[in-house]
Amino acid sequence: MSELVKLTRLEDIAVVTIDNPPVNALSPGVPEGIVQAIEAAAHDPAVKAVVVIGAGSTFIAGADIREFQKMTSGEKPRGTLLPALLAIEDSPKPVVMAIHGQALGGGMEVSMAGHYRVIAPSAQVGQPEVKLGIIPGAAGTQRLPRLAGVAKAVEMCAFGEPISAQEALTLAIVDRIIDGDLLTGAVAFAREVADRPAPKSRQRNEKLSNVDPSIFAIARDTARKTKRGQPAPLAAIDAVEASTKLPFEEGCKLEAKLFSECLYSIQSKALIHAFFGERTVNKIPDIPKATPVYEIRRAAVIGAGTMGGGIAMNYANAGIPVIVKETTQEALDRGIGIIRKNYANSVQKGRFSQAVMDERMTLITPQLSYDGFDQADIIVEAVFEGMALKKQVFGQIDAIAKPACILASNTSTLDVDEIASATKRPEMVIGHHFFSPANVMRLLEVVRGKATGKEVIATSMALAKRLKKVAVLAGNCRGFIGNRMLGPYFREAQFLIEEGASVEEVNQTLYDFGWAMGPLSVSDLAGLDVGWRIRKEFKHLEKPGVRIPRVADRLCELGRFGQKTGRGFLKYDAERRPLPDPETAALIEAVAREAGIERRNITREEIVDRCLFALVNEGAKLLGEGFALRAVDIDIVYLNGYGFPAWRGGPMFYADTVGLGKVLARIQEFEARHGSDLWSPAPLLQRLAQDGRTFADFDRQTASQASA
Ligand code: 3HC
Ligand code: NAI
Repeated sequence: MSELVKLTRLEDIAVVTIDNPPVNALSPGVPEGIVQAIEAAAHDPAVKAVVVIGAGSTFIAGADIREFQKMTSGEKPRGTLLPALLAIEDSPKPVVMAIHGQALGGGMEVSMAGHYRVIAPSAQVGQPEVKLGIIPGAAGTQRLPRLAGVAKAVEMCAFGEPISAQEALTLAIVDRIIDGDLLTGAVAFAREVADRPAPKSRQRNEKLSNVDPSIFAIARDTARKTKRGQPAPLAAIDAVEASTKLPFEEGCKLEAKLFSECLYSIQSKALIHAFFGERTVNKIPDIPKATPVYEIRRAAVIGAGTMGGGIAMNYANAGIPVIVKETTQEALDRGIGIIRKNYANSVQKGRFSQAVMDERMTLITPQLSYDGFDQADIIVEAVFEGMALKKQVFGQIDAIAKPACILASNTSTLDVDEIASATKRPEMVIGHHFFSPANVMRLLEVVRGKATGKEVIATSMALAKRLKKVAVLAGNCRGFIGNRMLGPYFREAQFLIEEGASVEEVNQTLYDFGWAMGPLSVSDLAGLDVGWRIRKEFKHLEKPGVRIPRVADRLCELGRFGQKTGRGFLKYDAERRPLPDPETAALIEAVAREAGIERRNITREEIVDRCLFALVNEGAKLLGEGFALRAVDIDIVYLNGYGFPAWRGGPMFYADTVGLGKVLARIQEFEARHGSDLWSPAPLLQRLAQDGRTFADFDRQTASQASA
């Protein structure tokens, strides 16, 4: 056989082992290898049945996603997996698929082409293709309804969540759960079924009749609401529906057509970019994989406010004991009360049991002293945002913490090097910038100070995985990656309302672009007073004569801090539902008049371009200055921390899809109209646009320089 697929025999059972590390993806050679092995087994008179199993940690994680990128870039013609699967199913000897780890996407489709499936108790199966902007492409939408029933097939194909072995058994997707050694159990199962006629899933039509048509209507409705802007979930529903109306072969043809349309869409390219991006951000050119990491067994958090409480929950959720220190009993009780309420909510919603909650609560030790801090492997500071206080706290913990303890600050704006200067061990100091609510948001910006040790960075990246976060390494500039870019984005949103767009128009246009929320609603949610305080602190950095947004500060002067006071850019009712506010509209007009700003009609196109290109330009500046490693790191920050639509791939990917030449031309128009202080084009953007290159090209060049 091939290197990727091996054929061996255990007496009367042939064993086909797929060995394509790390995840046994169906790269070229794998499907062909499986078919050849099964054909060889069919011709071997000593063989009664076949077991197909994966080597390593998993069965098959699906098609090789990199092959899709080659196809859509024209590098490779489209091949299809289906003929191989039909050949497997037509094997005259029963084929038992033995699943451990994951059978996902094409892996699930391979398993359904077998006559039987057995599974390890911890394994998962699923059709997650929609998460890549595509649909199952090798009969998954036609076989799954035949095995699991139409309702579950719609859910799995349209929303992409995998299911457990136990659920797969209940749904009759698999035939048996094997406790103990999977191969031994699979071989025993194969012997049991060897003499029976082998059932073919493509011929099993009993679950396709009398299907309630509302299943499809409800699923489409949910997809339109929860997967806004994404065609793949709707295509997946169409394909599963086809299984109830068309013979298998015709259903497969429709599936193939829809698959192809999805694969060549910009949404799919964006989602695949995000998939690989999430994995790329872990790769830091000057920090080799083998860099030693500190073991994190005990943590401590200082401050039990909005962020400290959420951060402590992350540690407890990962099973790491964590001390939470406050200054007053009242603040401590409030913080711990919120943690308890959050956990209780999860128990009530059935996310986990009361026993799990109790266990997590016992991992959290609330206290007013630094007792036990000398045992911590990491201390995370989350006190008020103020340099003097942060330096005082870092001075204190430097005196208590053991030498190998990482000292992390959750600051969102302050200079990590200056914070580190309060200690005698700047190499152990790092920024861990969590996002609010810290127990929910996936993003963690890991901020590298000039002295931060490589081991400390490597430990932070590995720890983030344990905390189920996506960590992105950022340089130490004001606002790091995410908040630095947000400044110009919010600035333009406010300028647009001063110039004539309504609050609702700006919000709605950017929501329609795909953002989870419009920028002015985000400001209301975060609290306008936060930025107001920061602006006052950094007033000395403002350049005379340069236009600044005025409306938010005026709202704050009136005590209108956003949702928390019931009024901000919008008004909020008791349920925090937003309503237009004529008083704000009048205030905005007055602000514009005082500033001599002429109000005019503003198009949706201008709203999108002003806000998005302000974001992109700042991203290009910080990328050129080296504060982000790659453009894709910026994209991953925005996809995981700021509600940027995943199907647009992130701001830098979006700019590539528009074309950097066009982006630059538009920025130059804005520069001519609004001045160079606000709109000077990023030198990197200028360079790339002039050379006809993209941010993706920049990333490729960075990667090749790093590996040279
Ligand atoms: N194709 C190519 N590479 C893949 C891959 C795939 N299907 N799945 C994972 N990889 C790569 C990753 O990029 C990573 O590479 P790197 O080490 O160079 O960064 C490596 O394998 C390990 O992956 P993870 O870091 O994600 O490993 P985990 O153990 O954390 O997770 C997993 C394993 C759950 C299998 C996860 O990798 C995953 O979800 N993979 C994608 C599954 C998927 O979407 N399958 C459907 C593909 S589309 C399809 O099958 C179409 C079909 O219908 C025709
Ligand atoms: P917060 O005001 O909700 O909580 C701060 C807590 O720290 C208070 O409970 C206070 O009593 C406590 N505290 C102050 N001095 C202390 C000390 N010496 N020892 C122990 N506890 C002390 O503030 P929040 O929002 O949690 O912010 C904390 C940090 O996180 C800030 O640096 C902020 O910039 C940053 N941050 C905030 C985000 C947000 O959305 N709120 C997002 C990301 C970072």
